[in-house]
Amino acid sequence: MEQTFVMVKPDGVARGIIGEVITRLEGKGLKMVGARFERLPEKRVMEQYREHIEKPFFPSLHHYITSGPCLLMVWEGRSAVSVVRTLIGKTNPAEAAPGTIRGDLAMDIGRNVVHASDSPESARREISIHFSEDEICTYKRTDEPVLYE
Ligand code: RTP
Ligand code: MG
Repeated sequence: MEQTFVMVKPDGVARGIIGEVITRLEGKGLKMVGARFERLPEKRVMEQYREHIEKPFFPSLHHYITSGPCLLMVWEGRSAVSVVRTLIGKTNPAEAAPGTIRGDLAMDIGRNVVHASDSPESARREISIHFSEDEICTYKRTDEPVLYE
């Protein structure tokens, strides 16, 4: 099983759609194995977004992502990284397909509700930035025997 890092950003929290995001991931068959609700500290913002630090949109991204609390989560399942990226949709909600979280619930690239790791390597890196090993839980969903062949 694969794990991926998912975060409801401050706009999603402020709009009261945390539950909607979780419902979609749970309904798909993914399993939440870690979670924390917090305002991101400066050090972890810089680590999380290190690839974007030199980009022109970074100052506004930084301001936005630290403007309120986020829900940080680790989700697990077969091919969890690509499955979650498909569920959240394209970065720009104006181009995101209907049925995706960004396609259904967002309007602006700078307010796109949710983050998810873009590769298994990124997922491992991002999970280790935000969570210690003892914060990741092991348990069974009762539907696991019928979710997978
Ligand atoms: P994320 O990391 O949040 O899951 O989003 P992503 O992979 O789909 O997009 P990425 O290229 O990693 O960009 C990270 C976040 O930066 C903001 N952004 N703004 N104004 C712009 O051109 C622009 N480009 C990116 C978005 O909030 C994006 O989610
Ligand atoms: Mg990204």
